[in-house]
Amino acid sequence: MATANKNLLTWVDDMAALCQPENIVWCDGSKEEWSNMWDILVKSGTAKKLDEHKRPNSYYIRSVPADVARVEDRTYICSEKEEDAGPTNNWCEPAKMRTTLKALFSGCMKGRTLYVIPFSMGPIGSKIAQIGVQITDSPYVVTNMHIMARVGDKVLDVLGADGDFVPCVHSVGVPLAAGDKDAPWPCNPDNRYIVHYPETREIWSFGSGYGGNALLGKKCFALRIASTMARDEGWMAEHMLILKLTNPEGAVKYVAGAFPSACGKTNLAMLTPTIPGWKVETIGDDICWMKFGDDGQLYAINPEAGFFGVAPGTSMQSNANAMLSMTENSIFTNVAETDDGDVWWEDMTDEPPAHLVDWKGKDWTPDSNAPAAHPNARFTAPAAQCPVIADEWEDPKGVPISAILFGGRRATVVPLVTEALNWKHGTFIGTIIASEMTAAAFGKIGKLRRDPMAMLPFCGYNMADYWNHWLEIGQKEGAKLPKIFYVNWFRKNDKGKFMWPGFGENSRVLKWVFERCTGKAKAIDTAIGKMPTLDGLDLEGLEMDEVDKANLLRVDTDGWLQELPGIEKYYARFGNHLPKELTKQVEDLRRRLESAKKAVA
Ligand code: OXD
Ligand code: MN
Repeated sequence: MATANKNLLTWVDDMAALCQPENIVWCDGSKEEWSNMWDILVKSGTAKKLDEHKRPNSYYIRSVPADVARVEDRTYICSEKEEDAGPTNNWCEPAKMRTTLKALFSGCMKGRTLYVIPFSMGPIGSKIAQIGVQITDSPYVVTNMHIMARVGDKVLDVLGADGDFVPCVHSVGVPLAAGDKDAPWPCNPDNRYIVHYPETREIWSFGSGYGGNALLGKKCFALRIASTMARDEGWMAEHMLILKLTNPEGAVKYVAGAFPSACGKTNLAMLTPTIPGWKVETIGDDICWMKFGDDGQLYAINPEAGFFGVAPGTSMQSNANAMLSMTENSIFTNVAETDDGDVWWEDMTDEPPAHLVDWKGKDWTPDSNAPAAHPNARFTAPAAQCPVIADEWEDPKGVPISAILFGGRRATVVPLVTEALNWKHGTFIGTIIASEMTAAAFGKIGKLRRDPMAMLPFCGYNMADYWNHWLEIGQKEGAKLPKIFYVNWFRKNDKGKFMWPGFGENSRVLKWVFERCTGKAKAIDTAIGKMPTLDGLDLEGLEMDEVDKANLLRVDTDGWLQELPGIEKYYARFGNHLPKELTKQVEDLRRRLESAKKAVA
């Protein structure tokens, strides 16, 4: 190993003593290491290499039905005080959790190799980047980390002899006795723990090999632990895409956007505009870290190096740039296998292939009842392979953010786009974003699931304290803050049809956002914020029902008034942690809505 960092060496020794692996391997991040990991996984029957001509250097792997997604009910924030985790997180006393984990991790890597993965979240050496070191007994995790983060010796170089790192310990939780045959996807679903200690900045994950449970740089570090670092140090760690928007004259603005799951975040980050001359390029599709520059602007980096995207629904129609990002050097988990050595998932093509092997390893035909790919099947693809990745996506100083979008999936009430009156009002909007439950399986149709700043499962501390942090960011002296917008692509008409076509047409809204930032676009004041007039939005060439057009931007005064008691009830959960400013925002909104109602009456 190429490190003289004593803390790191001691920690690895301690973890090895606890987990008792057969071997220890320090990962260097090389191509050779990638191939070695796949050799192990292919030989053991866990993974398959895809056809080299169809998808070079790419691999297929299936998990088991008990381990297919993040496990929010097994995710813990173990702060010393319960109130610091807040009502939206699972909490356990740190000492108690340490006892539980010590028992689970004791000897958990017997018969396995312990891999040490030094990784950088963010371009190596960037002042905004952070270093972590993950210990894992999963070679699959090593391969994914190669794509999702910068890993290996170059990170140890930056860490140096006395640099700090966030320790991240992961085990699939299945020790092997001599002679035991390993499972293709070892995991321990009855004993899963995804644990964060925010005060000591540690992550411990046991029992799962899947996605955000196991790739600890992503949700665990870059959001849960980083959000607490950001609070303590005056920066922001957000569940946001970052895109670069260029107008026909070549002027550039950078936009960040927070949307709950299933709202098309990756699609927006890679969108192909329908309006002539406009260009969208990608900086990141999931996570955004922002720090103030000397000029008072917020500069953002994408801490990740790859995309870990949901495969089903992704197609050349819905997101050609995502499809083109995964043509080689990629990993496919829980999708379906085609007979010619490639992959397929629902909606990838109009016609499904006549025969597939599904994500459970069973024969599948279009007559089969179940989907061929698991709904949370994933592709892992290097961001550098995205055809519209922006040249500056790895700029260590980050990109200056001019606008922040908040969105949700709302069939009613919320118009296509609204600009917040100011940062405080924008923060208020962030706290109330929500999606309507769309499928009966999720509960009552139309019931709202609030997902503040899209951080509900990812905030590493009390959500109301996090809102306060947002408000404090707005108070920073000399800050040149981004404008904040609330967008909703999902409003429906009275026939239950989406009024807005979405996808590339969202560029029309981005254009208005851009031109609000340059001062070119006009806005009118409404009770809920600033809005474009119908002719203020570029709808040229878009065939749309005139009634739908008008309704997209209609302020539903009664709908908003009816929503306020629900917001107050939801805020009440946070007790005295709720910033007073947010109560004031609700009161101000009610007053504005009531006077708008009187004016019409
Ligand atoms: C993700 C998520 O996987 O937000 O990115 O759940
Ligand atoms: Mn996400």
